[in-house]
Amino acid sequence: MAEIIIVPTPEDAGRLAGTAIADLLGARPDAVLGVATGSTPLPVYDDLRTRLAGRDVSRVRAFALDEYVGIDRDHPESYHSIIQNQVTLPLGLTPSLVRVPDGQAADLERAALEYDEAIRKAGGIDLQLLGIGSDGHIGFNEPGSSFASRTRVKTLTPQTREDNARFFASIDEVPRHALTQGLGTILEARHLVLLAFGEAKAEAVALALEGPLSARVPATAIHLHPHCTVIVDDQAASRLADRSFYEYVFANKPAWQGL
Ligand code: GLP
Repeated sequence: MAEIIIVPTPEDAGRLAGTAIADLLGARPDAVLGVATGSTPLPVYDDLRTRLAGRDVSRVRAFALDEYVGIDRDHPESYHSIIQNQVTLPLGLTPSLVRVPDGQAADLERAALEYDEAIRKAGGIDLQLLGIGSDGHIGFNEPGSSFASRTRVKTLTPQTREDNARFFASIDEVPRHALTQGLGTILEARHLVLLAFGEAKAEAVALALEGPLSARVPATAIHLHPHCTVIVDDQAASRLADRSFYEYVFANKPAWQGL
């Protein structure tokens, strides 16, 4: 079972995930991070900004989960721009060691294959941060995604486009396609850390953690992973049937066991 940790606020989640990442980088200065976009990972990046200040992170490598297809990489809402502005620059990572799928490639299938290959060549991702969409997607693996899927183009659901419209001038500007790591790609990371905050995620979190394994809820794929940590705030945990059990397990966590 994934470890489920319920914390009062997103800032608490940011501190927990930030500690795990800083510990990893302490042990392996050239570790490979899997970074995510959206509002959910922001408390982690905020925490890391102070936690990593003054430390040498020049050898850290990172791969983003996904990228829109059909907008320029310099568009302020491209994941290339977002990762650069929210992760690479503030944390002081080396830009050439941070990769985002190329949503503008003339040959997207080839770009997808090359992305998976680049992850493999880097030795695989050590720790993958994940958010969750209100429809249960991770990365941009929308409902129906194969658990064995590799990096590829996916069509975004109307729900996802609506959710992400807040970042664009109008919903018409939200791309309809994305290049995303597949569920099979994500499952190869050595440690998954899935975060979810707020009431709007409560249903998706309950389905992902307590519903049956199903391609309809792509995040249920985390149950196929041997090392997954889920950190949710009070509101996102509000529909979990076994919430008190998860709290009991965490309260009794052996001191030697890290995240
Ligand atoms: C996008 C991203 C996902 C992210 C999701 C949730 O669709 N592709 O990686 O988890 O949005 O976004 P937010 O964290 O803003 O709720």
